[in-house]
Amino acid sequence: MARKISFINYKGGVGKTSLIVNTAASLAQLGRRVLLFDFDTQSNASIWLLRLERWNKINSSGEGAFYSIFDPGRARVKDLVIKDVVEDKTGKKILPGLDLVPTTFNLVDLEAEYTGDPKRPPYLIFQEQLAELEADYDFILFDCPPNILRASQCGVFASNEIYVPANPDALSLIGFTLLVEKLGKFHQLSASFRTAGMGVPAQIQGVIFNSIKTGLDIEVPKMRMQLRMNQFRAAKRVAQEARIFDTRIRDAMVVRRAVTLGVPVVCLGQDSSEPGEESVLTDYRQLANEIIRQGGPA
Ligand SMILES: Nc1ncnc2c1ncn2[C@@H]1O[C@H](COP(=O)(O)OP(=O)(O)O)[C@@H](O)[C@H]1O
Ligand SMILES: [Mg+2]
Repeated sequence: MARKISFINYKGGVGKTSLIVNTAASLAQLGRRVLLFDFDTQSNASIWLLRLERWNKINSSGEGAFYSIFDPGRARVKDLVIKDVVEDKTGKKILPGLDLVPTTFNLVDLEAEYTGDPKRPPYLIFQEQLAELEADYDFILFDCPPNILRASQCGVFASNEIYVPANPDALSLIGFTLLVEKLGKFHQLSASFRTAGMGVPAQIQGVIFNSIKTGLDIEVPKMRMQLRMNQFRAAKRVAQEARIFDTRIRDAMVVRRAVTLGVPVVCLGQDSSEPGEESVLTDYRQLANEIIRQGGPA
């Protein structure tokens, strides 16, 4: 069965999208079957992987966008999967194994205007439909916005694991703390909708430090994060095996450039890196391997 993982932090701009896209791509390069869901109405992951032209078609028609599963009868999750999503400029598929369910700007309506049956919240509808796809994948990844509103809830409710991207600063630590609080509340609120087959609610398994500038000493922020994690572990508010990942992703221009080029960093190859930047490629590969080794919740 697929490992289902949400990448989330209550802080924006920490690198959730960059991490999840590049990790998903690395997992696919390692031969894993990966499905990525974009749950952020800003659609960063979708625009990145589809490039504007393909994404605009979906955004203007709404056809094929995640929100359409909440328009009853219009689409099911399995109809929305874009197989082997990454293409080069000529339209040739260059990364077999990475599939995407894209989002568009209308996902905001799920928060503001959705008036479905309260006995069937959006996360339950999503979870039921996702079950039809799970056997086809090794990893199903959810790129969440910095909150646990309805779109994020879809990811969190369906996940077995939660990873928290963070920068080595105080705001990331606050975001992590807030996340633990809100996650606890959501698990309580959604408990009555869980059935035995779903397993236990997902807990935070780890923090991943991202965008580390060369020469920056992160020992102090790392220690602060570790202390907070120890407190939460003692209070059973994160997984007992929760830890800070060994892999940290360095800050590199090529990460930002990859977004403009419309492909994950690991598809760019070393040619397009500035001197010394090929190492960020290795970081993503190492992270993918660390996630594989982590092996899911104990
Ligand atoms: N390792 C990195 N090196 C350089 N820039 C990065 C790195 N990770 C993320 N960024 C940049 O930081 C910005 C925020 O990243 P993003 O992944 O969109 O964050 P989030 O999804 O948490 O809002 C983007 O411009 C992205 O290109
Ligand atoms: Mg994002």
